[in-house]
Amino acid sequence: MDQKDSSSAKVIKRRTVTTLRKMKQDNEKIVMLTAYDSSFGRVLDEQGVDVILIGDSLGMVIQGHPTTIPVTVDDMIYHTRAVSAVAQTALVLADLPFMSYTSPEMALRNCARLMQESDAHMVKLEGGAPQVETVKQLTHHGVPVCAHLGLQPQSVHKLGGYRVQGREDAVAKQMQADALALQDAGADMILLECVPEVLATAITQAVEVPVIGIGAGRGCDGQVLVLHDMLGITPRAPRFSQNFMQEGRTIPQAIRAYVEAVKGGHFPADAHCFV
Ligand code: KIV
Repeated sequence: MDQKDSSSAKVIKRRTVTTLRKMKQDNEKIVMLTAYDSSFGRVLDEQGVDVILIGDSLGMVIQGHPTTIPVTVDDMIYHTRAVSAVAQTALVLADLPFMSYTSPEMALRNCARLMQESDAHMVKLEGGAPQVETVKQLTHHGVPVCAHLGLQPQSVHKLGGYRVQGREDAVAKQMQADALALQDAGADMILLECVPEVLATAITQAVEVPVIGIGAGRGCDGQVLVLHDMLGITPRAPRFSQNFMQEGRTIPQAIRAYVEAVKGGHFPADAHCFV
């Protein structure tokens, strides 16, 4: 790199819980996207994705299962390690898989493995009020937590399918109360999946921590999609997603287009939101 380049190059520092919170305060949209290996992890990092999520969606898009339920802690460590090896600026967020956090003690043990063996910077777990004690314990031991509310795919058999959550008054009130309780317990981020836009916006405004939406409308502090959905290679992508590979883009261009669409407030659009 020549002198001019090096003096004009913008140095982007690693995203942290502090920078993400500042982005919320500054109304700068946060871009999250899933990746499960080094090749895609590098592209996401280079194209300006703020948070790379190694989601347990890997059970479906990588392993070919119909749900996320078969994914193990060892699977999460394997894939998170591959992404951590190349992520320079993105915060690396790893899912705690099904049944790996049924008690605070179990959650602590599995987070220790995820952080020590695969360099995850934050962990994500599904669940509302019942997870408050676990989030308190993780926070107490220095583990940053993202709490996943709304549609919780690990409970798909209990929910009877992948459906929008929070359309009924009582469920909506409970979700908002859960978000506040999880924040008070120490959660650093909330993720809302398949939630009516009005409810997601209200929750985003009620909490101080960043709220990331997937199928949760335009009022959230940031957006996340599953990589394979936005690259157009999922056989039946959900309605809240968008294929960014259109218009003859390469994969890096598609990722860049997604980053710019989220940052510019152009994604999601009306067609991706639920009432
Ligand atoms: O596992 C995953 O990819 C997720 C997203 C759907 C948010 O949790």
